[in-house]
Amino acid sequence: MSKAQVPLPRTPFIVIRVTSTLLALLGLAQTTFAGSFLNGQYDMLKVHQVNAMVLGGVALIQAITGVLVKATGKGPGWPVWVSLVLVAAIAGQIRLGFTQVLAAHVTLGVLVVAGIVLMAGWAWRTPVPPKAAPPAPVVTDDPVGAAS
Ligand code: HEM
Repeated sequence: MSKAQVPLPRTPFIVIRVTSTLLALLGLAQTTFAGSFLNGQYDMLKVHQVNAMVLGGVALIQAITGVLVKATGKGPGWPVWVSLVLVAAIAGQIRLGFTQVLAAHVTLGVLVVAGIVLMAGWAWRTPVPPKAAPPAPVVTDDPVGAAS
């Protein structure tokens, strides 16, 4: 296989779709858990807390996947930085949540969820490199049995 025919790794492009979609779902769920807690379902605060840790972990995996997307040479570098900013923002959110600085917590939470959803939109708009074409059949002009 010549260098021009070497297929681009598709996996990082597919994985970043998975991580960004998962983050978007977890982020939207986070607002629902907060709403349920504010509505009086106090056990939802624990769910909100656990989901916060999962969000941070998935954002970190997404940053690593962003590095792999960039390494293909066909993806931009900014998803790595945006994902790292998200990790830092989620860590800040966790601190603001535990210290009950709610004005900042709710504002930053809305911004984090918006960023996460925009990132998922980008991941789905970015085309996954095509699969490698099967090797072309070897065609000769020799009639069948000509060599015998
Ligand atoms: C990435 C987004 C978010 C993260 C990582 C996060 C994380 C947390 C954490 C760790 C806590 C402390 C839980 C505990 O004390 O057991 C908390 C509390 C809370 N969060 Fe969030 N949160 C996020 C988004 C939001 C949003 C969008 C809202 C509201 C719309 C919200 C509303 C609240 C409320 C009302 C509390 C309870 C504070 C209290 O104890 O009085 N959070 N959050």
